[in-house]
Amino acid sequence: MKLSQQVIYQIYPKSFYDSDGDGIGDLRGIIEKIPYLQKLNVDMIWFNPFFVSPQNDNGYDIADYYRIDPTFGTMSDFEELVAKLKAIGIGVMLDMVFNHTSTEHVWFQKALAGDRKYQKFYYLRHAKPDGSLPTNWESKFGGPAWSPFGESDLYYLHLYDPTQADLDWHNPAVRAACAEVVNYWRQKGVKGFRFDVINVTGKAAQLVDAPKGVASKTLYTDTPIVQDYLKELNAASFGQDPDSVTVGEMSSTTIKNSIGYTNPDNHELSMVFNFHHLKTDYVDGRKWSRMSFDFPRLKHLLDGWATGMNAGNGWQALFWNNHDQPRALNRFGDPGRYRVKSAEMLATVIHLMRGTPFIYMGEEIGMTDPDYDSMADYVDIEALNAYRALVRSGYSHADAFTIVKTKARDNSRTPMQWDASPKAGFTTGRPWLRPTNQAKINVVQELAHGEIFKYYQQLIKLRKTLPIVADGDYRTWRLDDDQVFGYWRQLGSQQLLVLNNFYATTTTVDLPAEMVTAKVLLSNYDAVKVQPKMVLQPYQSVALLVNKN
Ligand code: NOJ
Ligand code: MG
Repeated sequence: MKLSQQVIYQIYPKSFYDSDGDGIGDLRGIIEKIPYLQKLNVDMIWFNPFFVSPQNDNGYDIADYYRIDPTFGTMSDFEELVAKLKAIGIGVMLDMVFNHTSTEHVWFQKALAGDRKYQKFYYLRHAKPDGSLPTNWESKFGGPAWSPFGESDLYYLHLYDPTQADLDWHNPAVRAACAEVVNYWRQKGVKGFRFDVINVTGKAAQLVDAPKGVASKTLYTDTPIVQDYLKELNAASFGQDPDSVTVGEMSSTTIKNSIGYTNPDNHELSMVFNFHHLKTDYVDGRKWSRMSFDFPRLKHLLDGWATGMNAGNGWQALFWNNHDQPRALNRFGDPGRYRVKSAEMLATVIHLMRGTPFIYMGEEIGMTDPDYDSMADYVDIEALNAYRALVRSGYSHADAFTIVKTKARDNSRTPMQWDASPKAGFTTGRPWLRPTNQAKINVVQELAHGEIFKYYQQLIKLRKTLPIVADGDYRTWRLDDDQVFGYWRQLGSQQLLVLNNFYATTTTVDLPAEMVTAKVLLSNYDAVKVQPKMVLQPYQSVALLVNKN
């Protein structure tokens, strides 16, 4: 199947299905749930890392890229999973975390033991002459980005947790080692790769302080050399498979650079994730703050990216949710009164756009953030650090908690809700993260009486069967509407207009004259009447298709 017709499903293995009762999801659990995945009709599954890891950052701290962590299963479980998915036409996408390794990785351990070869794998630097840290950079999880390197007088760089040491990509041996990892998994039949924070690998050779008032990330994020690294990795590994599917996780990237990463002429990646639209509920760009989303800004970002990527022949990964984000339903929809309709509306926005849609597990049954009432339920290192930092900076415990509750990554990491039982049918043991609203939201209930899952099936089918959805150009519709985000798709003489009401009140749209004779391709409400003044119900989406000839 062509890339433009594919839909990718993301599984957070720790939370999908637990087969052995230890409270943690595993590969055999995923194998058991293959029929469910088949029903949805997705083309590829992205698995968050399940490699050997001390799990300080839930597997993004890898200690061995070649082995499966025993908590998740064995290599033969993995091979069985790949084979069974392949048999029903579903590909596997693995998460390649190459900006850093765990400090338990043998490379780092050898470096610590004095092996010069491996010391060159990492950024080891001396303190400044005044004894202060090598640079003033901050870790993305809070605190300084440098920690002492064993007993030496050196420090090592870690943009994330102190147990995630940054690899020095200037070293060709590091780049070759990464390509070797990709090739190992290719030889196991893996065709998909997601590259974790790949655009922070392009640091300068000389690391310097960020000037006062400048965020340190601007010094090392999205630099031109990242494109050279990607071209090299492509040629040395996945680029040798004509049907490989790759996605780069791009922190603070630009449209121009994202075209660079994904324009097929450049032989870098199939597509990229960018996060600008998911910062529209941040106060002044600060994640650990609270406000309701800025709709005009959201619209302009979605439209600007779609327009720009179309013009430059780039390709976007389209998504609202992943394991790092609170549930989009809680942020951009109405998880209470309009849970179903707003879940469907959000899905419509991305599934009919130009790019490759990603579904994060649970989205297809309308899962929402859990309702925890104290910090005791949160486990993510980022949330725990943020809570402490908020309290330190003067927030009351109650206010700090409210912020963490809306922003924590744990929100999307709660177990998949299979049924209404106390453990949500996820495990027979004690779930590693507590589900809270499975009595209402669960797979059994959704498949028997719900409409969200069916709606996702329809969206997926449209992409596979209707060329305008897969390959049509993107065109801007009016950007000045107060509550509707709409866009055009166009292919040959066909035109598709997608209208999405982002609010809980009805609204009226003046249809362009040529659309008054259009047919309704899809809507999340029944009995839609196409008329010059179209009334949209709360959180209604409508897709109208017309043939100009
Ligand atoms: C992005 C991953 O999605 C996130 O979960 C992780 O903490 C960081 N990269 C560091 O690897
Ligand atoms: Mg288990």
